[in-house]
Amino acid sequence: MTYETHEYDVLVVGAGGAGLRAAIEASAGGVKVGLICKSLLGKAHTVMAEGGIAAALANVDDRDSWKVHFADTMRGGQYVNNWRMAELHAREAPDRVRELEAWGAVFDRTSDGRILQRNFGGHRYPRLAHVGDRTGLEMIRTLQDHGVHRGLDVHMEFTVVAVLTTDGRAAGVFGYERERGRFKLFRSAAVILATGGLGRAYRITSNSWEGTGDGHSLAYRAGAQLIDMEFIQFHPTGMIWPPSVQGILVTEGVRGEGGVLRNKEGRRFMFDEIPEPYRNQTADNEEEGWRYTQGDKTARRPPELLTRDHVARCINREVKEGRGSPHGGVFLDISWIKTRIQNAEDHIKRKLPSMYHQFKQLADIDITSEPMEVGPTTHYVMGGVLVDADTQMSTVPGLFAAGECAAGINGANRLGGNSLSDLLVFGKRAGEHAAIFARENQRGAVDGAAVESAARDALAPFESGRTENPYAIQHDLQDAMQRLVGIVRLEDEMREALGVLEILKRRAAMAAVHGHREYNPGWHTALDLGHLLTVSEAIARCALERKESRGGHFREDHPEKAAEFATINMAVRQSADGTMELRRLPIPEMPAELRQVIEEQK
Ligand code: FUM
Repeated sequence: MTYETHEYDVLVVGAGGAGLRAAIEASAGGVKVGLICKSLLGKAHTVMAEGGIAAALANVDDRDSWKVHFADTMRGGQYVNNWRMAELHAREAPDRVRELEAWGAVFDRTSDGRILQRNFGGHRYPRLAHVGDRTGLEMIRTLQDHGVHRGLDVHMEFTVVAVLTTDGRAAGVFGYERERGRFKLFRSAAVILATGGLGRAYRITSNSWEGTGDGHSLAYRAGAQLIDMEFIQFHPTGMIWPPSVQGILVTEGVRGEGGVLRNKEGRRFMFDEIPEPYRNQTADNEEEGWRYTQGDKTARRPPELLTRDHVARCINREVKEGRGSPHGGVFLDISWIKTRIQNAEDHIKRKLPSMYHQFKQLADIDITSEPMEVGPTTHYVMGGVLVDADTQMSTVPGLFAAGECAAGINGANRLGGNSLSDLLVFGKRAGEHAAIFARENQRGAVDGAAVESAARDALAPFESGRTENPYAIQHDLQDAMQRLVGIVRLEDEMREALGVLEILKRRAAMAAVHGHREYNPGWHTALDLGHLLTVSEAIARCALERKESRGGHFREDHPEKAAEFATINMAVRQSADGTMELRRLPIPEMPAELRQVIEEQK
């Protein structure tokens, strides 16, 4: 077995927002940093967070503050969030946004020149700093420029197949170059996983091919725990037509700019969901939303901006009950704003340029004059690696996680825009603490036998006598997860899913790849299967155990929240015999000051 070896103090796996921010911070900590990405630098799911970065800058509404943001995040997460992470996030997000601006991000501006903020679901005030509908892209561009100028060492198109540990501590990673199939060993004192999500476990998803849960599963195999895996975010608005583009994100920014949802009867069905105290205030302004008053100010909240889990379930209901659009979704209309503002066509093109082009080019729809057809798409996983709130270190010393592959801040449901601020806040913290860890700890010795075994496992699909097509297994897995562990869940269906996953595991062990290691996408797919199967099993097991409905986890057989689960996170870890062990982790009690903040904001 031959392989190159590289040595770093801190190694970051994943170059989306969290990975880049972590790498920048670790390098500022004076240690040698390596950055690995599965794809090309700059191609990250971060760009799919289009509508903005949530941060209580209070530029548009001066009533906003970290306290309101904290309370919104906890309410959105249905109070099973890690409250310390939610607090740090709300307090630090404004500084991270200003820092990004200082590094060159060009935000949309208010008329007096400050960073403009827009409305988004579940946020009490306009809070999302944005760049049209390309905020994630601008974030990646800025961080990438900044990181490259810091001299980060980047290894592109590289797949990690194992996190290596020595004496229970992270010691590096092993993997292969995707183009040539050559193995490489990376030794490091600290490893930060920032690999994003797992949307590819589902058939309809906004995630591109990289989103196969690698970081979740690598951490799990290295001995870390995963929590909250039952909480999957189905973004209410993905494209549904034509079939080739099904699942592509339609930013919540469309609704933030005034877009309304209607069923085939033309009804704004989200009005039925307005909370009781405000329901009687809708009649006077059906077009814009309902009003509520707080202190001396009145605000409007269109019902389309209720939290994502809620809106997605309502769309699902409309379709199921026969009130959907021709291709099985509902209508999202921004063109109606012509009746309200001058030059609406230019306004839409300026605020939502990507949406305009996306629909024009992919569906031949002009969103300035026609409604879009949209439906839920798997977008984000709230669950991930259990980490310490302040340092982002997992239960495996030296192994850190940040961004979507870490868990805690979002609880049962993430508010739109909180992902981009999460990446910045906790990417920075992970980088800072990994650098400290690397300064205080030598690189661990790497066990040669573990490397040989990881290489053998990676090459197994080339062995003769195998018969299973990896693409067919992936297809069957996505189909099962979509049907059986999707937006609406039932005990029998989830049990069926676990049975299907067992069969798929056996088939994956027989996955066959032809040809050789160079430029072999079938091989990549065969290796992704292991990760997809691990995360899918974790989702199904946690969802089965949580016998209630909360946030992104809706059980038709247990439609209400249950007190028994109000203070519990579901956790899984790999047991000694390799099976998945499920536990209930009690959530530590929230300190009185934070409880008071929530009380005040109610
Ligand atoms: O709809 C969006 O623009 C997505 C944002 C997010 O996931 O935070």
